[in-house]
Amino acid sequence: MSQRVYNFGAGPAMLPTEVLEEVQQEMLDYQGHGASIIEISHRAPPFLEILEETEELFRRLSGLGSSHALFFMHGGAQMQFSAVPLNLIARKERQTAVYLITGKWGVLAEKEARKFGSTEIAVDGKSFDYRKIPAWQGTLNPETSYVHLTSNNTLYGTQWQKYPETGEIPLVSDSTSDILSRKVDYSRFGLVYAGLQKNLGPSGLALVLIRKDLLGLALPQTPKLLDYQLADEQRSLANTTSVFSIYVTLKMLRWMEKQGGVAVMEQRNQEKSQLLYEVLDGSEFYHAVANPGDRSICNVTFHLPDDKKENNFLEQSLKEGLYALKGHRDVGGIRASIYNSMPLEGVQALADFMRDFEGREG
Ligand SMILES: Cc1ncc(COP(=O)(O)O)c(C=O)c1O
Repeated sequence: MSQRVYNFGAGPAMLPTEVLEEVQQEMLDYQGHGASIIEISHRAPPFLEILEETEELFRRLSGLGSSHALFFMHGGAQMQFSAVPLNLIARKERQTAVYLITGKWGVLAEKEARKFGSTEIAVDGKSFDYRKIPAWQGTLNPETSYVHLTSNNTLYGTQWQKYPETGEIPLVSDSTSDILSRKVDYSRFGLVYAGLQKNLGPSGLALVLIRKDLLGLALPQTPKLLDYQLADEQRSLANTTSVFSIYVTLKMLRWMEKQGGVAVMEQRNQEKSQLLYEVLDGSEFYHAVANPGDRSICNVTFHLPDDKKENNFLEQSLKEGLYALKGHRDVGGIRASIYNSMPLEGVQALADFMRDFEGREG
């Protein structure tokens, strides 16, 4: 088998080797059932136990209480761009939602919401090329159905440091790229959703946390599989769910707990990101994308002086086992995604490589 690389890809992202090894070991025979988990009914006890433990463990790790329902839905994060307005826009008669746009995913979420109601854009980071999170102290019309933001902007490496106060109006967060990467009081949100493929497991599903009083508000045309109330009532099993994704997510959550939980994840993510920001701040050669006050602990983004140097950087880093560092096509440059599974040694190897590269080519 070829040696495993340090995978800095933004998602699907790397998973801990021990999680993958366990999956590998169980593939022919899941706990004496003589079949793998992906060959067993999603309604049979082995999977129902997995589903139950996944929910319990997420609640324990995140501190989420019984005020919120928790379930999985198909279609990754972008399906939630449709599900959110379908389920929440009718909360108020005006059927208007406010979007705080701090990057491309927010742009797409707002565009989708416009199909089902009206939207207002209260914050738009476009004029800053999304390098910073604009301050927002605006007032909200009390007849607003919800306020939507993206907690971590995967492409640019910015992250909300302090969430806005929206009073009675439910705050909705696309937390795809920073779920469980730091301590967050999720109970203050009306709704949180996250595609699994960065901090939790394989791609394809989204985890949804919703305050229970917000269930049952879906527009009549809401497709069955996007209806939050039904997803809650059916405990993620309105149809055949992605058994494999939830099975791996449980292993990932167990791994996080074994490491010491979210507080330890946060401390490590701070430490890892700091290593890279230190290199960037001490250099005239590298240029960080994100405004210092809005920097993400999950995605670190930067440019080199020109395309040729960036290409050399990517080529040479790959030879050192530092994989998938190319920035998103909208931003260019380099992006190091350093989610929970990325070990400190991987980030240290990247920081060392950056210093060496600057020494050679700077
Ligand atoms: C913040 C955020 N939202 C949404 C998405 C889209 O996720 P999906 O491909 O699961 O629809 C991504 C993917 O990278 C993301 O980072």
